Amino acid sequence: MECKKGAPVGVFDSGVGGLTVVREIIRQLPDENIVYFGDTARVPYGSKSPKTVIRFSEQIIRFLKTKQVKAIVIACNTASALALDTVRDKFDVPILGVVSPGARAAVAVTQKQKIGVVGTDATVRSGVYTQVIHRMDPQIQVIEKACPLFVPLVEEGFKEHVVTQEIIEYYLESLRATDIDAMILGCTHYPLLRSRIRAYMGEEIQIVNPAYETAADLKALLKEQNMDNDSTDASGSRYEFYVSDMAEKFRQFANTVMPFDVPETNVVNIEDF
Ligand code: DGL
Repeated sequence: MECKKGAPVGVFDSGVGGLTVVREIIRQLPDENIVYFGDTARVPYGSKSPKTVIRFSEQIIRFLKTKQVKAIVIACNTASALALDTVRDKFDVPILGVVSPGARAAVAVTQKQKIGVVGTDATVRSGVYTQVIHRMDPQIQVIEKACPLFVPLVEEGFKEHVVTQEIIEYYLESLRATDIDAMILGCTHYPLLRSRIRAYMGEEIQIVNPAYETAADLKALLKEQNMDNDSTDASGSRYEFYVSDMAEKFRQFANTVMPFDVPETNVVNIEDF
């Protein structure tokens, strides 16, 4: 395993949203090299079937394996919900998703045993967050709500726009009327609306971003398997970004999320994998 220490961690998402997870991985694991793939040609995954999301995820994992990744993080909630179990069985590389870490964090903070989950249509339809939470504590009540328009709003740069406020109210009114005291942002894009969501839901509700716990799980996994990088050279960690389309648009968006200037982004024909 020693030789794997300097190998990169692969992270993938349906597009740009997974950068919220990369940002957290970089914060908690600054010495790790990262290869990111954003499936910008085929986003959104949130409106697709499990079969399609599994096929896309397998292609991306095959691509990431050509980069000799030592572990893979599925940053996309939809792909974590629909494809994680299948790809874990199929590939010989450790693969982490964001659902279990997010669920665990919410279970740890809820006092009233009532958790809200917001995500894409596909994630909510899968019911995976409820299943995972119930495996941890069957007494907890889970209320899931799909908020599909949040993704295009973030991608259009409408974070501060007045329509975003209306849509937050439209989707979250019913959830706010319950007495949940924890809420999982079960979609990569939603942490970018966190302050607006928090303002609407109120300070007493703990907002959980699964990215934090996912990065912590990755750190524990790399350490446990003696794969953590302890030999970053003086030029720092290396970050490579790949997409399936629209590289420049991706890079511009990425620059609004990442704490550094995102380097040139390469286009990959993912259907070849
Ligand atoms: N990355 C997706 C997720 O976290 C959101 C965007 C999409 O629908 O592909 O569920």
